Amino acid sequence: MSDSDLRRLYREHAPSAPEGRFSLETLVEGSGPIELDIGFGRGLSLLERAEASPESRIIGIELKVKLAYKVDQRLRKRGLANVTVMQGDAREILKRAEPSGSVERVALHFPDPWWKQRHGKRRILGQALLTELGRLMRPGGQLFIQTDVQERAEEYVAQLRETSEFMLSSESGYVDENPFGARSNRERRAIEDGLPIWRILATRR
Ligand SMILES: C[S@@+](CC[C@H](N)C(=O)[O-])C[C@H]1O[C@@H](n2cnc3c(N)ncnc32)[C@H](O)[C@@H]1O
Repeated sequence: MSDSDLRRLYREHAPSAPEGRFSLETLVEGSGPIELDIGFGRGLSLLERAEASPESRIIGIELKVKLAYKVDQRLRKRGLANVTVMQGDAREILKRAEPSGSVERVALHFPDPWWKQRHGKRRILGQALLTELGRLMRPGGQLFIQTDVQERAEEYVAQLRETSEFMLSSESGYVDENPFGARSNRERRAIEDGLPIWRILATRR
């Protein structure tokens, strides 16, 4: 298949988000806790989380069409019923998501890898996303963010300190381990390479 045929295949078959306002509760069958994995990349965290917590209803959102397509195909082959994915900008999709207070856990594994100032607009984790997550998460719900960029980690901690919706789970804001027991591709790589990882856990007030 040519590159352009492949691109068309990805575009036409990548799973898209529902139009307009939509309910997170009907995307995956069952009544277990709803979890979001935002920017899942190659999707290891989805696979590991779906296996670690079969009762959870896991929803992944990924901007890149090719990755959303490939991970969707892989999930179908594995027959994992408790996870679904959609392609698109999580900042836009989550604005349309309902109901408020329905989400138990949110993971952002290694978001915003860009260093340059001009990439500021691309950044996913900012006040706008935190406001939507604050609306969608239930009180006591957990927000987990990890990164290998120290400067980003410090920014995230500062942002979380400023929001009234979230409370950091430790004084420093950092935790030693990934609390969800599901590694992302980038996390696995960082561990293999012995690179430092900054892990942040916050609770919805
Ligand atoms: C550095 S990668 C990390 C991928 C994966 N979470 C991991 O840890 O291996 C960041 C991912 O976030 C995705 N992303 C960036 N902005 C996004 C947005 N606005 N909505 C959804 N996904 C986004 C990128 O396409 C990319 O796959």
